Amino acid sequence: MAQKLRLAVLLSGSGTNLQALLDRSASGTLKAQVAVVVSDRPGAHGLKRAELANIPTRIIDYRALMEKGRDEWERLQLPVDLRELDEAQQILHFPDVSKRLGRLAGMVLAEDEMIRHLNAFQPDCIVLAGFMRLLSPYFLRHYNRDGAWRVLNIHPSLLPAFPGQRGYEDTFDYGVKWGGVTVHFADEGEDTGPILAQAVYPVWPDDDLDSLRKRGLQLEYALYAQCINWLASGQVRFFESSHGRTIVKIIDPNYPRILKDWAISAFSGKT
Ligand code: GRF
Repeated sequence: MAQKLRLAVLLSGSGTNLQALLDRSASGTLKAQVAVVVSDRPGAHGLKRAELANIPTRIIDYRALMEKGRDEWERLQLPVDLRELDEAQQILHFPDVSKRLGRLAGMVLAEDEMIRHLNAFQPDCIVLAGFMRLLSPYFLRHYNRDGAWRVLNIHPSLLPAFPGQRGYEDTFDYGVKWGGVTVHFADEGEDTGPILAQAVYPVWPDDDLDSLRKRGLQLEYALYAQCINWLASGQVRFFESSHGRTIVKIIDPNYPRILKDWAISAFSGKT
């Protein structure tokens, strides 16, 4: 029997992905338990979902900490060298160095507080579920250490197409005929980390953004839970490509059937 993973879920919004994990955890189909839910937004509906399920919640005051970073970065005692962090980071692209350092300082303040909260719950895995903040290398190095990947993200597009915060909008606006959802490990770029699994759905001529998003979200729920189960069962292997990129492979005899089931479910309502 595989061991249950302890998850820390980070979110900013409605938390339907969290709900899907909580439901599967309650019904015994998820080989994991949600240990804590953290949000950057006090009003996030996802926090209510956690409270209803008796899961501890924590709120990080990103707004205040980002302001503090912006205004005080030159005087702050931070647990990391800001200039070194700026050289390593791949997420802030604006040219003004002091503005970048101020932003990074705010992120480090917020992430440091978040790490302290998370450590108390000893999570095996950090699950990003609609967390609308960029994470700096300071946070990612803390979890992606000793050669292990511990931060998971779900992205609403078939990566590497349409990274960023508008996955469904970009999928719809581009006119692609197949959309997709991706679970990947978070690295220091934006939606660029090693891909664990993907599921695809058809885009129909009569779709609008809402119907497309609805179809995609149903797949997200199944995909995220399945990826967590693969991790919990030790069925995830890492390889290095000839270009030095980390490649993830799922070692599960049921893998083809699971992919087929997802594809069939994405056709539901159409014959
Ligand atoms: C999902 O579409 C997820 O892929 C993206 O943010 C959205 C979160 O939705 N990263 P919800 O809060 O889980 O409903």
